[in-house]
Amino acid sequence: MQSDERRAFMREAFRTRFGREPEYWVRAPGRVDAMGSHTDYNEGFVLTLSIDRDSWIAAAPRTDGRVCAESMNVAGRHAFEIDGGVETRVSGWAIYVQSVAQVLRQEGLAFPGCDLLVHGTLPLASGLSSSASLEAAAALLFASLGGFALEPVRAAKLCQRAENEVVGVQCGILDQYSSILGEAGSALLLDCRHLTHAYAPIPDDLQPVICDTRAPRELSGSAYGERRASCEAGVRVLAGRIPGVTALRDVTSAQLAEYASELDPTVERRCRFVLEENERVHGLARALAADDRGAIGALCAQSFAGARDLYEISVPAMEAMLEAILAAPGVVSGRQAGAGFGGCMLALVEAQRVDDFVASTADSYAHATGTVPGIHAVRSAVGAGLLSA
Ligand code: GLA
Repeated sequence: MQSDERRAFMREAFRTRFGREPEYWVRAPGRVDAMGSHTDYNEGFVLTLSIDRDSWIAAAPRTDGRVCAESMNVAGRHAFEIDGGVETRVSGWAIYVQSVAQVLRQEGLAFPGCDLLVHGTLPLASGLSSSASLEAAAALLFASLGGFALEPVRAAKLCQRAENEVVGVQCGILDQYSSILGEAGSALLLDCRHLTHAYAPIPDDLQPVICDTRAPRELSGSAYGERRASCEAGVRVLAGRIPGVTALRDVTSAQLAEYASELDPTVERRCRFVLEENERVHGLARALAADDRGAIGALCAQSFAGARDLYEISVPAMEAMLEAILAAPGVVSGRQAGAGFGGCMLALVEAQRVDDFVASTADSYAHATGTVPGIHAVRSAVGAGLLSA
């Protein structure tokens, strides 16, 4: 759907649902990581792309301090008081809107209530940050309603805090940073310690393709927290041996090898994956800059092998999808994306062969697993912003 059609479609739905015209429009994209799994909460690096699948919100202010929220993707109305506190917690997707409202209020930022309608083009709960895009869009909306500016890195940190403290998912900064600070035409080489980034352009004739396994995944489940705990356990031991270590970011592969015998073997494997993955982020940025397709393919293959064997975030559906990707025409690389445990993967494909790639990957994966996957070519898109009214 074109932007103007989407706008007309939402405007009509807003009138029907709320009986008036929307006055504020915001959008925020999802993201896919090209390299750097589980490095963000280790203060490491990620090569991330904000994508042209996103969440839009249309809204109109209210005078009673309430937010009434509906989505065009999921049925039902959710309502909460901006100053209502945790006892009025909403359920489902609206928690991402409410959590941001709460964190902004904790910061002393004032804004009126509103009626709001969400329309999203991201598959939900499949590792493309549909929730972070909703948080980012909500933060921008509340800033516009309140007439205050939110500096982008601060906005990303507040959205992460909303997810950590209110929603209760201990995610890193990757998703929110990508959704707010993403750039069209380039990946970002994100430094998760300093919260800065450099541009890392992807060659024009290399097409990112999202390959959704449609295997169910649950990020707030224990597996994600358990991976984080392994990294923290590793840091505790290594910090006692190596001066100046506060995160895996500070540890070299040689140092990890030196103290490997002091670590629980599972912890050692997980730490090793994170250190190698950080190195691969820089390696992939260089390979993309040089358009070295052999290196791009090899780095992504190593990343997937590490995700499967060391970090243990792969599931059979991901292995089947990788096999389908690597057998398809035009493929340059394939690897996991997001937290893993199912969800989406990312292939880089020769642009002129994308249609054949999509047909072949969908067919082989469906044949192997009995599940019809979602295979979508995407473009990098600019981070969250206002749409003119
Ligand atoms: C999820 C989290 C991110 C990041 C990735 C793994 O998407 O929300 O913070 O940890 O997993 O890289």
